[in-house]
Amino acid sequence: MKPREFFIEDRLEKFRLESVCNLGESGVRNFDLDSLLNALDIPISSLGKIPLHDSPNSGRQDLREEIANLYDTNVTPDNILVTTGTSEALFILFNLLLEKGDQVSLFWPAFQALYEIPLMLGCKIDKIFPNQMNSEFAIQAKGLSHANFDIASNLNASISNVSNPNFSDQSSKKWNPNKASLGVTHLFKTKPKLAIINHPHNPTGYSMNDTDWKFLENYNEESFVIFDEHYRFLDFEKDLTRSGALMHPNFLATGSITKCFGVVGLKIGWIVAKENLIAQARSFKDYLTHTVNPISEFLALEILKQRKKIIEPIRNKVIDNIQYMRNNYHKIPSIEEYHEPSAGLVCFAKLQPGILSEKYADELYNNTGVFILPGKNFEEEGYIRIGFGEEPDRFRKGIDSWIQWENERSI
Ligand SMILES: Cc1ncc(COP(=O)(O)O)c(C=O)c1O
Repeated sequence: MKPREFFIEDRLEKFRLESVCNLGESGVRNFDLDSLLNALDIPISSLGKIPLHDSPNSGRQDLREEIANLYDTNVTPDNILVTTGTSEALFILFNLLLEKGDQVSLFWPAFQALYEIPLMLGCKIDKIFPNQMNSEFAIQAKGLSHANFDIASNLNASISNVSNPNFSDQSSKKWNPNKASLGVTHLFKTKPKLAIINHPHNPTGYSMNDTDWKFLENYNEESFVIFDEHYRFLDFEKDLTRSGALMHPNFLATGSITKCFGVVGLKIGWIVAKENLIAQARSFKDYLTHTVNPISEFLALEILKQRKKIIEPIRNKVIDNIQYMRNNYHKIPSIEEYHEPSAGLVCFAKLQPGILSEKYADELYNNTGVFILPGKNFEEEGYIRIGFGEEPDRFRKGIDSWIQWENERSI
């Protein structure tokens, strides 16, 4: 099977650079090279000595050491493989772990690569709605059977040009953050071969609670678990969001600096896994990108060495944007429900019934230059994804013109 089109990409490519206010992106506004080097206090001449031969296939030793330092002491550089973005890391892991007919579960809605590649490999996908709000919902969920929940939204044929029979559930229900509140245990109800935990979660902004982590600490299932921890550097309370990497022999993780630090063009990601799986992943990578770009690798290393200094102003800007939206979302009548992210950079807001997300996103963009992503691109009609990575002055101006446009429309 071939992967379907990547639904968010066309729109992102079209609007990410030209929008007046970019709320469509899941990363922060990107540095240019001069400002990155300034922030790192590195002279541009230091780039001149970077050799342009192949880097080591597993990634530079010093970079793997810095990456290992982001995790508990049981993670060493030998547990790390540097990859070209998280996309390559995930592609390799899915190919190594999955076979046709395997069951895969994940929190829904989801970043498309997390289920499209397993679908391409012939796997069956079980969509689980995360506990969006807090532990209250997990308590409500107790005692109800898996089948009683909105465990899958409709795969609207007009949304996904192919309605795929491998999505395990085709009910006509919709994602509802207040109603369908499932904790992490629900990912394992069908005994999948692999559970994917994207945490903090894109697109909903959901973070796991203590009950979820307790379950993972005492994990005694057989499923493999991949923690996609792309947004780990943007926790609002701690230095780093807690990682599931190697908490259990079956737990692996992927990570990246690109979205949180505003350096998406560097395309550096990584895998954290047991040494034997890292060896297999390295061998698989030899057939793909083989090695990463040495300039990117050098800059990634410097960013990680100075990560606390670099992330602090970024985190403050994101918090500022989230606060501004908190004070203003109720002035946008088309938004029916809004839950801000508890970590990371995005949230998934519900539109009033009957509003079509693509039409709404187009009209908003055409009238104000504010770019948001339609829920339809996440195969969940009736929602929009809002990103908080824009510069605060642009963010505020964008939200103000969004409000003004809404209010003029409703007169
Ligand atoms: C949850 C998640 N995983 C993986 C990726 C892919 O990341 P990369 O750009 O590092 O390939 C993204 C990108 O947006 C993402 O949001």
